[in-house]
Amino acid sequence: MNKEKLTLLIGGEEIGRRVAELAERISADYEGKQLLLVCVLKGAVIFASDLMRRLKVPAEIDFIAVSSYGSDTASSGVVRILKDLDKSIKGKDVLIVEDIVDTGLTLNYLRSSLLNRKPRSLKVVTLLDKPVRRKVEFTPDYCGFEIPDHFVVGYGLDYDEKYRQLEGIYVLDPEL
Ligand code: PRP
Repeated sequence: MNKEKLTLLIGGEEIGRRVAELAERISADYEGKQLLLVCVLKGAVIFASDLMRRLKVPAEIDFIAVSSYGSDTASSGVVRILKDLDKSIKGKDVLIVEDIVDTGLTLNYLRSSLLNRKPRSLKVVTLLDKPVRRKVEFTPDYCGFEIPDHFVVGYGLDYDEKYRQLEGIYVLDPEL
């Protein structure tokens, strides 16, 4: 039995509308380019697949897994590559797809690490942004929603690997 209390923050339909808007903008910006989506596992997988299906320009996708959190809800600040990209990104127009920017540590690290591999361009799209939590300066190029400092789950985001399959984004209030 789940002991956490979930409160809806952003419904599935609202997410769908925002993803469509982001896809419109990205499609316009990447017309005639070599778009490669880099999906950051696991949280971004739902967002990346919905976003990719809405794009009107050709796009490839690759996956990278990094570790920054354990089963705790606080960021440890330690970033490690657990699974690297399959192919070179040299000369590609890379768009990193994330579910959430919190402290900014993960994307700060990923951006500089991928820049070393000489892509033609490198931008970031995140579904959610929690700017009040930043430990390092980081501004995503495209953002779905700015949210306040709540721990959120659903639409790919988890708590201890639970709730990723929920259609909406929920605030989690652990009663443990
Ligand atoms: C989340 C999210 C980002 C990172 C953001 O991943 O997907 O990668 O944390 O936090 P930061 O801005 O404080 O670095 P998480 O470590 O929860 O892994 P998951 O995507 O596999 O659930």
